[in-house]
Amino acid sequence: MCGIVGYLGPRDASKVLIEGLARLEYRGYDSAGVAVLNGSGLKLRRAVGRLRNLADSLKADPLVGHMGIGHTRWATHGAPAEKNAHPHSSEDGKVAVIHNGIIENYRDLKGELQAAGVRFASETDTECIAHLVARHYQGDLLAAVHAAVKRLHGAWALVVAHADHPDLLVVARRGSPLLIGLGQSENFVASDVTPLLPYTRQVIYLDEGQLATVSRGQVRVFDAALKPVAHKVETSELTLDAAEKGGFEHFMLKEIHEQPVAVEATLRGRIQGGRVDLSELSLDAAALKSVRRLQLIACGTSLYSAMVGKYLLEQRTALPTECWSASEYRYADPVIDPSVLVIAISQSGETADTLEALRLARGRGARTIAICNVMGSSIPRTCDATLYTRAGPEIGVASTKAYTAQLAAFELLALGLGRLLGRPDDAEEARVVKGLEALPAQIRRLLDGDIVGVKRCAKRYQSVTNFMYIGRHFNYPTALEGALKLKEISYIHAEGYPGGEMKHGPLALVEGTFPTIAICPRGRTREKMISNIQEIKARKGVVVVVATEGDQEARELADYLIEIPPCEEEVSPILAVVPLQLLAYYTATQLGRDVDKPRNLAKSVTVE
Ligand code: M6R
Repeated sequence: MCGIVGYLGPRDASKVLIEGLARLEYRGYDSAGVAVLNGSGLKLRRAVGRLRNLADSLKADPLVGHMGIGHTRWATHGAPAEKNAHPHSSEDGKVAVIHNGIIENYRDLKGELQAAGVRFASETDTECIAHLVARHYQGDLLAAVHAAVKRLHGAWALVVAHADHPDLLVVARRGSPLLIGLGQSENFVASDVTPLLPYTRQVIYLDEGQLATVSRGQVRVFDAALKPVAHKVETSELTLDAAEKGGFEHFMLKEIHEQPVAVEATLRGRIQGGRVDLSELSLDAAALKSVRRLQLIACGTSLYSAMVGKYLLEQRTALPTECWSASEYRYADPVIDPSVLVIAISQSGETADTLEALRLARGRGARTIAICNVMGSSIPRTCDATLYTRAGPEIGVASTKAYTAQLAAFELLALGLGRLLGRPDDAEEARVVKGLEALPAQIRRLLDGDIVGVKRCAKRYQSVTNFMYIGRHFNYPTALEGALKLKEISYIHAEGYPGGEMKHGPLALVEGTFPTIAICPRGRTREKMISNIQEIKARKGVVVVVATEGDQEARELADYLIEIPPCEEEVSPILAVVPLQLLAYYTATQLGRDVDKPRNLAKSVTVE
């Protein structure tokens, strides 16, 4: 959550910071701030609300300088308010700090500092760091940051500037991502690569526990004991286009339309001669034979892809597979031992709940695999192997292309593991692979097709305050995901339910104006879904049906019909979710919601 940018070099630091923060605003948007070093010291400017408030303030009264740090915040400790916005500074104003993460022992530290006479200006945990650095500072900023960091418990990516060091930023990382961008006589710091793309693609990803000094001409990296360590310079594969809207009104709409490419890229090179090839994971077939159970851990949309993954993995491996909300896993005493293979699913690779659950599993000897979209992020770094989805950067807070890419990755993993575990079924594999290969063109066809129809449908039901989404088996998670999309961007209450459960309670909600979205493609549960739709119709409920093209019975029952192309039932969640994403998108835009930055949310949730 929260975005970090730092700059040292010949450019106007304020401009670099504001442009960088604009690319990171999806990570947090309660407030923002910068500290820029000019002729008379480190000058802070902060503003509540969207970044444009800060940008307007800097336009009206510029802060001119060539070194600065900037932050966009998603509030954890202390309400969104100017005093709680980062940067935070020491009492003498010489130290400025920006921070992502949470300092768990901040109350103790604050008490100790207050007892020593320090006056706090904010309610944040971060402010402790500025005061600690100031108290340890004796001319050596790196030593002061190192001493301060040793007092912290929790997670941090932090950047520290000091008024007496015009060519130095000290950075430290534990639990939250931080990287350094290398330019010509200029250097950058950021919490992800997107703000750096206009200037450089050469980056150093800091490892857990590391600190670094960054000046215009030099970067030095240190381990937690302050021993200099060698660092690797990597070239980011992302391009600037990938992080821009490209003519679409919102990132979410652009990302919905990128799904054919995202799915195609996720499959590319992983199917050879009609068979899944996961040799890139270097999985040890002999070691896998001792696996007795699978556990899937994830949050939010990634959790719903894991729910589809559970069905696929059980079908292909015959191993009992549990699907866990990562935030529950840690506290529920799951049975974990070396016979368990844990699969962590995450778009960002930084979700704190998933990361901590993963660490617990590793600590108990489980083997681990990640399905992840962000190269080099913390979750893949923590796992034995990673199957990367190749959806490209996902900026919209509502996950879309990452989800369908995760589903494609699960299809591959299930077939690949099935074969490695000695359960190959060539005919089945050929059938599903054919279904997978057809997907990019089918999603394209869906997107080029009845969008007008989905828009009309969104208009028709936008004034409704409650929605029910139902599906069965592979498409029960589709119902959950459709409902989540609607909730998070339109703020309309929606629930996802297994179709067969309606009669066990929720059917009581149904009356003349209550809409149910029924996901009912061809497959083993279609007949049952048709019965569930009939039960709703018999009670005069309104039903929007997502069905396979040509399904006459569904057409006759539906108040509104959305058709998807015929497909193998295993891949139907990848097609069925697309109109639901569009339905949520058009409902939200017609209601005037801020689709890319829904209230109270942030893209990547790096706090538990
Ligand atoms: O980056 P992750 O996939 O680990 O994120 C998990 C959830 O926070 C995320 O899917 C969230 O639910 C999205 N906003 C849903 O659209």
